[in-house]
Amino acid sequence: MKVKSLKVQKETRWRRPGRYQVRINKYIGASGICSRRRADQLIDEGKVKVNGQVLMEKGYDVRPGDEVQVDGTLIRPETRKLYYLVNKPVGYVTTVSDPQGRPTVMELVPDVEERLFPVGRLDVNTSGLLIITNDGDLANRLTHPSHEMGKTYVARVTGMLTMKEAKILERGVRLEEFTTSPAQVRLIRHDRNSTLVEITIHEGKNRQVRRMMEAVGHPVTDLERTAIGTINSRLPVGGCRKLNPGEIDYLKGIK
Ligand code: URA
Repeated sequence: MKVKSLKVQKETRWRRPGRYQVRINKYIGASGICSRRRADQLIDEGKVKVNGQVLMEKGYDVRPGDEVQVDGTLIRPETRKLYYLVNKPVGYVTTVSDPQGRPTVMELVPDVEERLFPVGRLDVNTSGLLIITNDGDLANRLTHPSHEMGKTYVARVTGMLTMKEAKILERGVRLEEFTTSPAQVRLIRHDRNSTLVEITIHEGKNRQVRRMMEAVGHPVTDLERTAIGTINSRLPVGGCRKLNPGEIDYLKGIK
């Protein structure tokens, strides 16, 4: 028996940034148990309860702290894990919001209810590949110093970088607070004023590639991340795609 109609809430921001109140059918759909249309049917059938009361209002907006049950089972909206790969343009900041009003990488991913965040960071002047997800466990593991996987960059540096300097970069250079661990370096080409070089590093210290190149006397003028481990992509600048299941398994398998 339907007991009570719950009041429809106006769409307002959730307290945590990036979260909104969400329509009940979308909330149920986001939990992965059925489509939004089926969620509406379940409400009509009296099978949806909010905070223990049968819901009669299809337009109900779920609020933080609401407990939603479908057919007697408590559901959670964030069981769905999302994994996006974006190609960050220069000028975008790698944060969820920016007090200075600059564009953020979150503008590159679809507008979903899940609370997404970037994994690690790229400098505002760096372009290239970045993972955005709501999987906190994976993000923590990937950014933890003990399992820093290789990240590959293509840098344009000033002047001609020699093989000898490339070897120094490979062996490790002393930066202020640490010595970099072994890297792989490949000289791509040079002209009179600059060298294009590919470098794979296994740490993620602040401005690491720029500082390594400065340490051997060749400041970076352009920097692009071209691969995260074995994940690379021909995404257009500003583009976004979902990681495929093989890529997700690969990331989860990184020790
Ligand atoms: N190294 C840098 O110097 N900058 C980045 O954004 C990433 C790696």
